[in-house]
Amino acid sequence: MPTIKTLLENNRAWARAVSTEDPDFFEKLSRQQSPGYLWIGCADSRVPSTQLTGLMPGEMFVHRNVANVVVHADLNCLSVIQYAVEVLKVEHIIVCGHYSCGGVEAALRDSQHGLIDNWLRHVQDVRNKHHDFIDAAGDFAAQSARLCELNVIEQAVNVAQTTIVRQAWERGQGLTVNGLIYGLKDGLLRDLQLRINNSQGLESEYQKALAALRETN
Ligand code: CO
Repeated sequence: MPTIKTLLENNRAWARAVSTEDPDFFEKLSRQQSPGYLWIGCADSRVPSTQLTGLMPGEMFVHRNVANVVVHADLNCLSVIQYAVEVLKVEHIIVCGHYSCGGVEAALRDSQHGLIDNWLRHVQDVRNKHHDFIDAAGDFAAQSARLCELNVIEQAVNVAQTTIVRQAWERGQGLTVNGLIYGLKDGLLRDLQLRINNSQGLESEYQKALAALRETN
């Protein structure tokens, strides 16, 4: 593991490289941010949102927690969504899960890790809701992959059902909720075919994404 001193040296080299490319970059960015995207992803160290999408600082607002869960009583996540939608006016919210997610697998296994079990209870709700679909997937790895995908779809629906997003749509604000999943083994993002851009379309987009999952699995 590199030392903190190495991290600081890396940082200086990075800042120098960015400034060489665009001498005003940090000065411009320090005045304001206007990201087009809000990313809601897993806290996993292997899923660096801006790096894997090729975005620069300033282009993506980010919220990460274990297993990319969106709960309607989580003030932290709701505050991020509110600021992103109402102040920054992002055009896309991306809920991004990843395969082999430790949180999702703990939920699937019912394994016990203490306090976090309560958080992962939300993923177990997803597991229970789609019990038959997950059972039919096959071995543990296949079931885990399916639950990782279903968890993205359900959490994206939770985002679309927040008062913040519903009110944005009522105001006529352009805002799309997307569901993606990342493969740790190949570094690729996969589109889960979920694009919710109004309350009326929520159910049909949800069913369409589930149907797309059934076809690919
Ligand atoms: Co994870």
